[in-house]
Amino acid sequence: MGYLVEDKRKVTTHRLIQMKQEGKKIAMLTSYDYTTAQIVDSAGMDIILVGDSASNVMAGNVTTLPITLDQMIYHAKAVVRATQRALVVCDMPFGTYQVNPTEGVTNAIRIMKESHCDALKLEGGVEIIDTVKKILAAGIPVMGHLGLTPQSINKFGTYTVRAREEAEAEKLVSDAHALEEAGCFAIVLEKIPAALAERVTKELKIPIIGIGAGQCDGQVLVIADMLGMTKDFSPKFLRRYADLNSIMTEAIGNYITDVKSCDFPNAEEQY
Ligand code: KIV
Repeated sequence: MGYLVEDKRKVTTHRLIQMKQEGKKIAMLTSYDYTTAQIVDSAGMDIILVGDSASNVMAGNVTTLPITLDQMIYHAKAVVRATQRALVVCDMPFGTYQVNPTEGVTNAIRIMKESHCDALKLEGGVEIIDTVKKILAAGIPVMGHLGLTPQSINKFGTYTVRAREEAEAEKLVSDAHALEEAGCFAIVLEKIPAALAERVTKELKIPIIGIGAGQCDGQVLVIADMLGMTKDFSPKFLRRYADLNSIMTEAIGNYITDVKSCDFPNAEEQY
């Protein structure tokens, strides 16, 4: 039996902060297209993330870096059209906010105007704080993203757990505080030690959403991974809730067999 949503009201950034105060956990999942987002929203998801993981999942790129602003807007528009209840957050893609605050806010406004999403997510801490402040000053809600920030994969050189060392952990904590003080409504913590994420979750008033970060105020996963569509990606933090890869392969194989044997379409399936 799935999760039944009793509260049908549109999720807002304000509600998410209330949920943290009330100790209610926040569920977040990625979507990149209309059909999937409709299912995710109807299931009762609190936040739908139009992640730049679309670069990997939808386009087959090795990293998130190649996806463009236009492509993110295309995905976000489709998700927004499908969504009634969840808060829709769109990732600002690599290169659209790192150059300077003016360019960052210009691109942020473009995503909001064209996609009609509810909020934006940016990767980074104090390095991008002026841009975060400018985007917030334009009236756009911002979600932070710290820890393993995939747009910096070429700097990290590995997708391994971040902030195991004290210096990086302390920087992460001060980045999280800086993002909260700037006015971010939530922060994603990706692939960091559970104890560090727990500390940030306790110290901050805004919701902390974890992915490979232990128990936080909420959790996020990439939909293709948690539904078992991807086969080769199996980090420790990933729980697979279905094996869609096998289900789809079997269904598609059955279709091929039926077409080739002239079983499909049968008499009832034609005009
Ligand atoms: O792009 C994405 O899917 C993300 C999540 C992994 C948090 O940023």
